[in-house]
Amino acid sequence: MLSDQTITDYERPGDAMTAPATTQTSTQNSSASGPASDTVAVKATGLYKVFGRRQQEAVRRLEAGASRDELGSLGTAAVIDASFEVHAGEIFVVMGLSGSGKSTLIRMLNGLLEPSAGQVTIQGKPISGVSAAQLREVRRGHVSMVFQHFALLPHRTVSDNVAYGLEIQGIAKAERLEQARTIIRLVGLAGWEDNLPGELSGGMQQRVGLGRALATKTDILLMDEAFSALDPLIRREMQEQLVELQAELGKTIIFITHDLNEAMFLGDRIAVMRDGRIVQVGSPEEILTDPANDYVAQFVQDVDRARVLTASSVMEPALSVVQVAQGPRAALRTMRDLQTAAAFVIGQGRRLQGVVRDKDVMKLVKAGDANLSTAINKNYASVTGDAPLTDLFEMAVGSPLPLAVVDESDRLLGVIPRVTLLAALGNVPTTTQAVPVIEPQGQIAAETMTEALAESEHLPNNVPAEAGGSTL
Ligand SMILES: Nc1ncnc2c1ncn2[C@@H]1O[C@H](COP(=O)(O)OP(=O)(O)O)[C@@H](O)[C@H]1O
Ligand SMILES: [Mg+2]
Repeated sequence: MLSDQTITDYERPGDAMTAPATTQTSTQNSSASGPASDTVAVKATGLYKVFGRRQQEAVRRLEAGASRDELGSLGTAAVIDASFEVHAGEIFVVMGLSGSGKSTLIRMLNGLLEPSAGQVTIQGKPISGVSAAQLREVRRGHVSMVFQHFALLPHRTVSDNVAYGLEIQGIAKAERLEQARTIIRLVGLAGWEDNLPGELSGGMQQRVGLGRALATKTDILLMDEAFSALDPLIRREMQEQLVELQAELGKTIIFITHDLNEAMFLGDRIAVMRDGRIVQVGSPEEILTDPANDYVAQFVQDVDRARVLTASSVMEPALSVVQVAQGPRAALRTMRDLQTAAAFVIGQGRRLQGVVRDKDVMKLVKAGDANLSTAINKNYASVTGDAPLTDLFEMAVGSPLPLAVVDESDRLLGVIPRVTLLAALGNVPTTTQAVPVIEPQGQIAAETMTEALAESEHLPNNVPAEAGGSTL
């Protein structure tokens, strides 16, 4: 779609964008910490931006499949056919190398740049082709932007800088300073209210800028490489803080970065850009485990997988498992067949009760004891499915058994043998068949177990029920 058409299509009379900043969406979001809602906060449809005199012709060529390089003198295609939806309360990361079109894209989202084609809607309302006044209203009431280098006002205090956006919104002084105080505390600058920016470190200045954007109470926050100028430790701290703030304030955040680890850490979903095009949109795990093409695969090669992957994404089906009601003989048979020295024991509804060791089960079998529960011990480690791999290493080192992955009701979902953990880090396929994931290896020979099973067959409790029980 060409931009002149877009303008006609979306020219609307009106006060569409003049609603106050507090919309229904922001109310929903303020319940915070939950997952992103289904409400679409920002939507881009077929967005193009070509810098140059012959934009429309360039767009037509691109639509016909031309690449960026093939445009020649028609112009520079910064963004090509970008379509995506950002849900309210989501952190949506746009990631790509320098020059891939990220800044151009984000500038179209708040109307700083007019698309060459396509449209942007903010909370369902188009922003292409609206009047300058309406656009200002969008930026004031709905969307604020944080840049890599904040333009802090050097002669104003931290407090005044944070409250600056509110001042522009026309909020009375007492009220805006009150709001600023809350935000300053949130961004970890309590006590610095009356200092000037020059008296703060770079990281603290960045917090002031973030605070300013947060203070305006817009629902949507656009952040363009906002942390890229910070040194790594402060940067990590800011990333963690942003995630916390997001949980608390429930904003919709579109975050731009060229750093994949940052993208993976922050993003609920990530859009990967290459040469102006979005080549994949997906959750960090999807992008890591199922890259759409070689480019994305190359990109994610260096990512710190341990931070992104979770227990549930690498776990294996639990094989060495017995129902407690099946008893010692079934447990021993399972361990014999799998040649493992231990088995997980589950009860009703797959609830994990513990583990049994081969030698303990052997004793029960030899004694003709039909009750497995006396052999159950709790010497295993369990994690929930959402635990990142980074949290698992220490546990795995301390545990000879695979880690048990359980849900919140302690139901056994799967297991993570150590070899699986290593394979996941090395991006080696973790199919159970390929590597011996049965841990720990059995110590008692299979024949010995078979013998014990055979010898104990006549013991009172072990006679199969259909034989009518023992008469001895
Ligand atoms: N105002 C402009 N005029 C001409 N070309 C531009 C302009 N802004 C960006 N570009 C070009 O568009 C492409 C994408 O730039 P940009 O959106 O800044 O990428 P990123 O933010 O991913 O580094 C680059 O080739 C850049 O040179
Ligand atoms: Mg940029």
